[in-house]
Amino acid sequence: MCGIIAGVSGHDVTGTLLEGLKRLEYRGYDSAGLALIDEQGEILRKRSTGRVKALQDEVTSDVRVRGNIGIAHTRWATHGKPTKQNAHPHICNETVALVHNGIIENHEALRASQEKMGYRFTSNTDTEVIVHQVHSNLEHSADLFSALQQTIKELEGAYSLAVISNLEPDCLVVARQGSPLVIGLCEGENFIASDVAALLTKTREFIFLEDGDVACITADNVRIVDTNGKQVDRQVHHSRLNSDSVELGEYRHYMLKEIYEQPTAAADTLEGRLSGNRLLAATFGHEADEIFDSITSVQIIACGTSYHAGLVARHWLEEFAGVATSVEVASEFRYRSHVVPENCLVISISQSGETADTLAALKYAKEIGFQHSLCICNVAESSLTRESDMVLLTHAGPEIGVASTKAFTTQLIALMQVVIALGQRNSMTHEQEERIVRELRSLPVKIAEALELDTEITVIAEKFAHKKHALFLGRGTHFPIAMEGALKLKEISYIHAEAYPAGELKHGPLALIDNEVPVIAVAPNNELLQKLKSNIQEVRARGGELIVFADPATGFKEKDGLTVIEVAPVDDIIAPIIFTIPLQLLAYRVALIKGTDVDKPRNLAKSVTVE
Ligand code: M6R
Repeated sequence: MCGIIAGVSGHDVTGTLLEGLKRLEYRGYDSAGLALIDEQGEILRKRSTGRVKALQDEVTSDVRVRGNIGIAHTRWATHGKPTKQNAHPHICNETVALVHNGIIENHEALRASQEKMGYRFTSNTDTEVIVHQVHSNLEHSADLFSALQQTIKELEGAYSLAVISNLEPDCLVVARQGSPLVIGLCEGENFIASDVAALLTKTREFIFLEDGDVACITADNVRIVDTNGKQVDRQVHHSRLNSDSVELGEYRHYMLKEIYEQPTAAADTLEGRLSGNRLLAATFGHEADEIFDSITSVQIIACGTSYHAGLVARHWLEEFAGVATSVEVASEFRYRSHVVPENCLVISISQSGETADTLAALKYAKEIGFQHSLCICNVAESSLTRESDMVLLTHAGPEIGVASTKAFTTQLIALMQVVIALGQRNSMTHEQEERIVRELRSLPVKIAEALELDTEITVIAEKFAHKKHALFLGRGTHFPIAMEGALKLKEISYIHAEAYPAGELKHGPLALIDNEVPVIAVAPNNELLQKLKSNIQEVRARGGELIVFADPATGFKEKDGLTVIEVAPVDDIIAPIIFTIPLQLLAYRVALIKGTDVDKPRNLAKSVTVE
C-alpha cells in the first residue's frame, strides 16, 4: 500500500526522502513522487511510474531539486491507473502540495462541488479532492494547520496525509485517520512516515499519531491536536529496531532472509514467557487473568496468512484448551450479522497491525457486543494493538517481503501460548502443558533442521517452474498449512495453486488431476495418516505427479510419479510449524527459477491499509 515520508529541516531533505522511499518499497507500489519547496519559495515536483530508482535518477539529474521541506510518496493504485499524472504529490494552484495514503469515500461529491468552484483536476485519483479542499479552506483559515483541521472534518474514509505550502515554508502539517503515521524526532529536523522502518537511519524516537490527530511540525517543534482540536501530548517511544534490522545483508531477497530468521524469531517470541515447564502468567499482562477466567469461547478474525494461523489455532484451542472456537476472514466477518456469544474472546491476528479489514472487523465486533479482545501482532504500536484490550506480540522483527513467512510461524507460537493460558483454566493437564512447553522450546533447533531441506527443495523446484497449476493437500491441522503453502506459491511464483483437505478430493477436484498438475501433500505421522495415504492413492491412480513432504515413519517410498521429501520427525504439536518451512522454501525456489519479483510480487502490497 502507499507509503509516505516527509520532513522539515535546517538543510536539504531530498536525500532522506529518497532513502525513506526506498525503505518503504516493501509495502508495494507502482509509482513514486516527491515535492519540495525550493530556495525561491516555489513548489518543485518530480514523479515517475515504476520503481523509486526511476524517481531517484530523475531527481539526481536535476540540480534544482533541493529543499529544506518536502513530502514524498509511493503509490499503490486504487482510483486511477498507475500513471505519472495520478502519482502523488498532488498540487493545487502552485500553492499547496499533498500526499495521501488511504481512500476518500466521498471524493465524487467533493469533486463535483470543487469543479463548480472552478478547481481544475489533473488526475483520476480520489486524493486530488483533498489538496483542493485544503487550498479552498486556506483562504478562510489562519494558517495551513487550521486549514487541514477544517479539511479532515469534510473527508469520509481513511487517510494519512502530509501537506506543505509555499505560503508557510517552515511547516509540515499531517493528519491521520485509519492509516498509519509516525513522527520521527531528530535534532534540528523532524520527519514523518508511514512506518518506523523508513526513518531508522535518522532516529529511534517516535510519536505514533492516533486517529483524528492533526500535527504541525517544524524543524524544532511538534504540535498535535486531537479530533476535538484540543492540544495533546503523545508519548515518545524509543524503537528497539535499528537500521540493520531492515537491511538485506548477505541474502538475495528479504523473503529468503526472513525464512532463515525463523529459528531466532521463534526464540524471541518465547523469550521471557516460559519458566521451567510452564507458561508464565504475566505473559498477557496483569488484566488478562480476570478476562481469561471468564472466557468460554473464542472468535478469531484475520486475513491471508494470519487467517491460516487462526485456522491452525482452532484445532489447538478445541483439542488442548477445550474452548469452542470460530475463525473467519475479517472482510467477511465485518459484513454479516452475528449471534454474539457471552464471554467470547475476539482474537485478531495480524503481522502489520494495520490491515484495514481486520481493524474494521475488530471495531465491528466491539460495537455488536463482543466484550473482550486480544491482538496477536508483530508491530507494537499499531492500530490493532491500540484497539485491543490485550496484546501478545510476535517478536519476529520487521518483515519486509510481501509474502509472510516468519510472521506466520511466530503467530502460531503466540497462539500456542494463548492455548496454554486458556487451557490452564479448562481441560489442560499439567502433563499436556509440560509437553507443549517442551516442544515450543525445541522449535529454534527443529526449524533450523527443517531449513536444511533447502538444497533438496531447490532441485524439486525445477519440476514446477513450467507448471500452470498446483494442488496442495493436507488434513487436520495440516490443511491450513497446505493452504499457506498454496498461498505462498501463488503469490510469488504466479502459479495457480489451491489447497484442499485431502478427503475432499473425490468430491470434485480429482477431475483436475493429470500429469500437468503437480500435487503436493503434507504428511506428518499422525492419526490421519492412513486416510491421507488413501487420498494420495486416488491421485496416483489418475496419473497425478505427487510430491509428499513426509515424516520418515510414514513409510512413503519414492517411485514413478511420487517424490518424497523427508521432514525430520517432530511431535504432532509443533508439526504444523515445522512442515511450513519446506513449503515456504518451495515457493521461494520456484519463484527464483521463474524470475519473478519475489519480495514485491505484482499487484500485491505488504500492508493492506485499504478495504
Ligand atoms: O499484516 P496482516 O497479517 O494483517 O496481513 C494479512 C494479509 O494481507 C497477509 O497475510 C497476506 O496474505 C500476505 N501477503 C501473505 O503472504
